[in-house]
Amino acid sequence: MPRTWAISGVDLHLDLDGPRVRAGLEAGLREAVSSGRLRAGSRLPSSRALAVDLGIARNTVAEAYGQLVAEGWLTAVQGSGTRVAARVEPGTDGAAAASAAPPLRIRYDLRPGSPDVSAFPRAGWLRAARRALAEAPFGALEYSDPRGRPELRAALAEYLARARGVRASPERIMICSGFTHAFSLLCQALRAGGAGVLAIEEYGLPSVPAAASAAGLALQMLPVDADGAVVTDLGEAGAAVLTPAHQFPLGVSLAPGRRSAVVQWALAGERMIVEDDYDGEFRYDRHPVGALQALAPDRVIYAGTASKTLAPGLRLAWLVLPPGLIEPLVALRLRSDQHTGVLDQLTLAELIRSGAYDRHVRRSRLAYRRRRDRLITALRRRAPEVRVAGIAAGLHAVIELPAGRGEEEVVARAAERGLGLTGLASFGACSRRQRPEALVLGYAKPPEHAFTGALARLVAVLTEDDPPVSSGPAPQAPRPARGRTARRS
Ligand SMILES: Cc1ncc(COP(=O)(O)O)c(C=O)c1O
Repeated sequence: MPRTWAISGVDLHLDLDGPRVRAGLEAGLREAVSSGRLRAGSRLPSSRALAVDLGIARNTVAEAYGQLVAEGWLTAVQGSGTRVAARVEPGTDGAAAASAAPPLRIRYDLRPGSPDVSAFPRAGWLRAARRALAEAPFGALEYSDPRGRPELRAALAEYLARARGVRASPERIMICSGFTHAFSLLCQALRAGGAGVLAIEEYGLPSVPAAASAAGLALQMLPVDADGAVVTDLGEAGAAVLTPAHQFPLGVSLAPGRRSAVVQWALAGERMIVEDDYDGEFRYDRHPVGALQALAPDRVIYAGTASKTLAPGLRLAWLVLPPGLIEPLVALRLRSDQHTGVLDQLTLAELIRSGAYDRHVRRSRLAYRRRRDRLITALRRRAPEVRVAGIAAGLHAVIELPAGRGEEEVVARAAERGLGLTGLASFGACSRRQRPEALVLGYAKPPEHAFTGALARLVAVLTEDDPPVSSGPAPQAPRPARGRTARRS
């Protein structure tokens, strides 16, 4: 007879079929341990309690426990009860694991894509979460508007207008689980709306062409030069996706003439532009480049994300939609995930509303600007033959390698020394044109305490003056802040 009983507060299902109750209990426990349903160290109930739960004699349970202790499945220690014994985890092939080469350990990570997550404002997030949850009505925990919580859409409308010049009203905003999710929905909506071809920048995030193709859109590649994407010939495209403020990954911004040209193109033919403003908050030497969306709010879909300002693991992003796309996007959400989780939405709304989000962005901007300056100085002094580009903004730079050095060789050499690097080829969506070999360097990613070491290793790899792996102190990761509000349970 199948039964479910609670073990150390965890429900465990046991199949006690058959007339031999003790054998059935032993077999059930063996199966639960070997399949991993009962983990090593889990405490089993006392024989008396389990006997009462299962409606069997206490002796039967005690004998079954004794047998399993003798077989090595369980341990019994005076005073600490009966526990599941430590053993090889299920599915681990010991022989294969022993013979496999150890994976290269990245101790210093300069791959692009992430901010310094060790600087995540844990205390501020916890304060905002506590307050948001305390104030949320019960209704907030029901299924919500597919566009997202009104509190967050209102906070973002105000923030985006103020900080990025976006023409946003809460009704037009949709919260998504990251840009990648948002863009995939957009591709489906654009395709359903009749677009056949999507123009994309020749270099970019690999998930962009992947999502477009998955939605049935054909791709047109736009070359990128010093003035950003070349938008003079958009051919048959029904929509274009651009990174106007800071081209990813080359780092140039779309020149004013091209900004108006692409907007004119969209207005002239009922076409759409997707503006991926992934790191628009981080501009260092000049005034921020405002959002393209402000030039044509009914033709430009604005997309922003918390992945650079806070952390990519949050999976929070937002779209500001032209009116005609709201209904199709809502319909897509209703038949996929309904909406993004409400608690994180409410927390982010409170973070923005309280001013803590702005403060964190300002602090981060200052810290990343300092890192960028240190990177430039170190390369200028120690590796003057490399050229650094795309540094006016964002969290990454393009490092053009000197003649004779190839991306793959430099990336592999760095990996052997525990340094994570990425070659520009990883972001080439089309056949490679003539271009220098280069790295896309994410200088924001290492925690502050590891940045000096990362820089030293980068210089050493670029100048072929590599120290052995063991040299230099290993970065000691400080524990997360343990202030009163940041304490973890
Ligand atoms: C060009 C670009 N757009 C958007 C994003 C953010 O994507 P997501 O919000 O899915 O983390 C990234 C992250 O690396 C990016 O490089």
